[in-house]
Amino acid sequence: MPTNHIDEAILEKVAPLYERVKTVIPEIEWPVHAPHVAAINELKKEKNAVILAHNYQTPEIYHCVADITGDSLGLSLEAAGTDKQVIVFCGVHFMAESAAILSPDKIVLLPRPDSGCPMADMVTPEGVREMKERLPGRPVVTYVNSSAAVKAESDICCTSANAVRVVNSLDADEVILVPDRNLGRYIAAHTDKKCHLWEGYCPTHDRLQVEEVERALAEHPDALFLAHPACPPEILALAHHICSTSGMGDYVRKSQVKKFIIGTEAGILYRLREENPDKEFILPSACLICPDMKLTTLEDILRCLQTMSPQVRVAVGVRERAKVTLDRMLAVPRD
Ligand code: 13P
Repeated sequence: MPTNHIDEAILEKVAPLYERVKTVIPEIEWPVHAPHVAAINELKKEKNAVILAHNYQTPEIYHCVADITGDSLGLSLEAAGTDKQVIVFCGVHFMAESAAILSPDKIVLLPRPDSGCPMADMVTPEGVREMKERLPGRPVVTYVNSSAAVKAESDICCTSANAVRVVNSLDADEVILVPDRNLGRYIAAHTDKKCHLWEGYCPTHDRLQVEEVERALAEHPDALFLAHPACPPEILALAHHICSTSGMGDYVRKSQVKKFIIGTEAGILYRLREENPDKEFILPSACLICPDMKLTTLEDILRCLQTMSPQVRVAVGVRERAKVTLDRMLAVPRD
């Protein structure tokens, strides 16, 4: 355990946490994080707060201060079910907005209000209305990576973990899928329904190149390639398994294979390495980093708990309609 000028008592207090994360957080970084980790963990108890962190968050957030971690679907369920009065959302804006929609009587804090989602910005409520006018009678299935206003124009939401199941649950032969064209094509390949796609995309997943994956597969012939359905179809064609971020965690844990090439945002590698110290994980491209997911720091979380701001609020008219679409998704049976 590293020691320097940092208060010994604080280091002592958080020592068990460092034992857990020392395979993913270098020794030299720990004295920087330790005082914030200790302060956040005290303050969240005092404020009756729960900290939710997406799988892409940094390891010091994910492993040292988060109470609940997971993919978009898991975190939506947690946000809907928590009995804590304050939810601190370490992720991006649309995730905190979903928490505010699902738990309207709670205080939802987003430590970095500037953590957006470029794909969510690629679709507007007006755009969805126009598409509905052009294609009347087709239900609109909207990926949770979208604004509350877009959800409010939709019939049901989905995440990468349940998209095919949600679409197949609908009593319709044709559907409109918004906003991710890559997830849309993946769904279209796994359903008999005719799919009309919005042309949005996640810039981080969309950047991954076939040559990068092929190179990684050639260098590591004993590895399996796991890909997120937000990757383009030509990347998914190379995948041994396609799933959400938490789906990757489950798959790796159960697998006898020791090496994996990971086709999603780099943050998930910390979780995978910490949970599977005997397995190796390879990122096929240095471009797999979402700048928005990397904005939140421990300092931001501490400040937001101290000031109880910034809060995410959704106007009541939008919120009520958006809640229907999220509730419908959460009601679709899971495994
Ligand atoms: P998950 O639904 O797998 O958590 O993915 C979230 C996401 O934003 C993908 O880019």
